[in-house]
Amino acid sequence: MKEKVLIADDDAGIAWVLDKFFREKGFEVIVARDGASAEKALREASVPLALVDINMPGKDGLTILKDAKKWEGFKTAVIIMTAEGTMKNAIEAMKRGAFDYVTKPIDLDELDVITARAVEDFHLRNEVSVLKERLKEKLAGETVFVGRTKVVERIFKTVGKVAPKDATVLVQGESGTGKELVARLIHANSLRCEGPFIAVNSAAVPGELMESELFGHEKGAFTGATETGRGKFELAGGGTLFLDEIGDMAAGLQAKLLRAVQEREFYRVGGKEPVRVDVRIIAATNQDLEKAVEEKRFREDLYYRLNVVTVTIPPLRERKDDIPLLAEHFFDKFAREMGIETRRLSKDAATELMTYPWPGNVRELENVLRRGVLLSPNTVLTPADIALPQRHYRKESIEDMISARLEPFLEKALSSGPSSSGRGGGRQELYDSVMPFMERPLIKLVLKKTRFNQIKASELLGINRNTLRKKIRDLKISKKDVKD
Ligand SMILES: Nc1ncnc2c1ncn2[C@@H]1O[C@H](COP(=O)(O)OP(=O)(O)OP(=O)(O)O)[C@@H](O)[C@H]1O
Ligand SMILES: [Mg+2]
Repeated sequence: MKEKVLIADDDAGIAWVLDKFFREKGFEVIVARDGASAEKALREASVPLALVDINMPGKDGLTILKDAKKWEGFKTAVIIMTAEGTMKNAIEAMKRGAFDYVTKPIDLDELDVITARAVEDFHLRNEVSVLKERLKEKLAGETVFVGRTKVVERIFKTVGKVAPKDATVLVQGESGTGKELVARLIHANSLRCEGPFIAVNSAAVPGELMESELFGHEKGAFTGATETGRGKFELAGGGTLFLDEIGDMAAGLQAKLLRAVQEREFYRVGGKEPVRVDVRIIAATNQDLEKAVEEKRFREDLYYRLNVVTVTIPPLRERKDDIPLLAEHFFDKFAREMGIETRRLSKDAATELMTYPWPGNVRELENVLRRGVLLSPNTVLTPADIALPQRHYRKESIEDMISARLEPFLEKALSSGPSSSGRGGGRQELYDSVMPFMERPLIKLVLKKTRFNQIKASELLGINRNTLRKKIRDLKISKKDVKD
């Protein structure tokens, strides 16, 4: 395919010479003889190269250049030509983004060299923008929040709706649920995705340093401030600022943050002039901020400013169906990171993962699986390889066990109606009739363990010895009840 070149000059003689020169070099030439048609050709023909005269009827070359640079995706290498080789023109042309500047009469050898460079430059910039486009896609593609459950699907929908807007988002969820990941996902799918994503954690930075961390400081603002320092707000300019653990922010700073969020304007520490900044704010918290507002630990006005859109990530135990998918995702990730074969879960191991309550959520799941992969040579990981903490099992299972047994009992009691014993309503009687059955086996077990030593038993139970004695009497527990 022939390269295109635009020659814009009202001087017929020069236009003819250049037309001939470029045709001989194999270009397809477009000639424009005034400002308006030159601009039209630049806009419509998307030529790699344009030679534009400064003095033309209609619109001069420098103004055309200045305007064209504002068009989206304008990549043409523009060479400005002039009969008057003044410093002012030369500087102005380059300042406005000309590729080069030549004076008439044009030295064709020089033009030959410039042309070769300009065409190469055009293609390079095209490639760069293609690469950038690809990088953008890759970024959005690499930030993956794994999940297929209904609750996660709802999160995706919100993210998709809110990402392209600049609305402030509050991400809520227990520790390790993926709050930062969701914030990154919003950024990666936003119009700011090529801008920076800057995170700042209120819980990790000591209170007295936080103001300077957020807003920066002027030289001499405090001891050690030998230079002006930019804060996270400024660093996030053109991108997204992620305010992590926002609930831990000191009260004094909340007022300053409110101003910054409201006005997109703030003062550096020790600064007299306000600094303006273009940032999108995403905040995250694992606390109940509404409660913090009620308890006056968090400013109500700031809460409403941050809480324009809320994304609540449910704990992992409420979306257990995503666990196998997450496990697969992490196994693939570790395999890539460590250059090893990917792993799988045995059926029993998968069952254990599904029943464990995951107090540390996805972060805990990731850690447990990583340890399993590191410590075991097996391709198929067994429950022993996974080694879940047993403590949580017991804690949950005792309650589960009792509830499981209580439920049918209750159903039966309720369906048979209020008791006819005559004293009080059915409700009170239910409590009185159930409680001994909870206490009796417990006390019996402890007495059995202590071989009916009532002092030891009362210590183990953490109740008074007289109370224990009374209970033994009331519950009619005798020594022979606790014999093996
Ligand atoms: N749905 C998910 N898919 C893939 N990876 C996830 C998912 N959720 C969390 N992770 C991973 O789990 C880890 C913890 O996630 P993240 O740091 O976003 O959680 P967090 O809610 O910010 O936790 P914390 O409150 O402890 O700061 C990260 O490595 C993250 O990549
Ligand atoms: Mg986090």
